[in-house]
Amino acid sequence: MISSPDNATVPPRVVRSGSELLAIVRDARAGGQKVGLVPTMGALHAGHASLVDRSAAECDLTVATIFVNPAQFGPGEDFGRYPRTLDADLSLLATHGAAVVFAPSREEMYGAEHSTYVDVQRVSERWEGACRPRHFLGVATVVLKLFMLAPADVAYFGQKDYQQSLLIRRMVRDLNVPIRIEVCPTLRDPDGLAMSSRNVYLSPAERTRALSLSASLRRAEQLVAAGERDVSILLAEMHRVIADAGGVQLDYLAISDHQTLEELVRIEDQAVALIAARVGSTRLIDNTLLQLSS
Ligand code: PAJ
Repeated sequence: MISSPDNATVPPRVVRSGSELLAIVRDARAGGQKVGLVPTMGALHAGHASLVDRSAAECDLTVATIFVNPAQFGPGEDFGRYPRTLDADLSLLATHGAAVVFAPSREEMYGAEHSTYVDVQRVSERWEGACRPRHFLGVATVVLKLFMLAPADVAYFGQKDYQQSLLIRRMVRDLNVPIRIEVCPTLRDPDGLAMSSRNVYLSPAERTRALSLSASLRRAEQLVAAGERDVSILLAEMHRVIADAGGVQLDYLAISDHQTLEELVRIEDQAVALIAARVGSTRLIDNTLLQLSS
């Protein structure tokens, strides 16, 4: 029997083999348990923990996965230096109620002959997809593999990776994957910086500059709340906030339709402001939904 949120401080069961994971999830569901899945790349922080908390609150068994997925990193990106902190991750998962942690090797996930990739078209093409060719092929492929190995009732993702969450919803609909997707709010440090495993790369001075990303999003929210609908005015204000900070190289800054991610001229309905930038050698992303109150 797998531990439940009631005895949540029990160390999670660490599973290395996909077939063992599949058996655990199938047995739990056959026994009437509701299973929640939280896919991660480790280096866990309170943002990840909030997804685990949500799953533990809603499900009988929470499975977290930790796998730094090589297929979603491009050449020259940070796959090699991505933080790997398994012991700390397991302690955090224990206190947040994940009973099972799937931490496979690269070989377990990608055999030598691996040659199948999931291409979620359209929603993957702009923004992150344009900056990071093949990134979303890698994301969709690994997430579908995790859904096959852990056929849970619900899987939890963060709004922090907004385009990723749209892509996963699209994939699940298009391929009839029987898992419900829940997207949870972005957790931030008290100063507004969106929590990210990559924040550890930032020097104190870079971290201060990085605050301009969330500050620009807050500025857009304020202007929209005050009635501004003209996207060119909103973007100009956001660019000004970023430029004032100095030392931030934008990859993109956009206000888009919240579902298609196409750029807007005016905000008529729900929109999303998306930002990606490099601060020193660290690439950061953030976003916010811009809702019309009336
Ligand atoms: P990773 O960056 O580790 O993020 C795992 C999950 O945590 C994602 O759903 C992400 O959106 C969410 N998350 C990250 N920062 C958050 C924050 N500040 N607040 C709330 N949620 C946050 O995203 C990935 O890994 C990978 O692409 C993955 C889906 C695991 C596939 O490899």
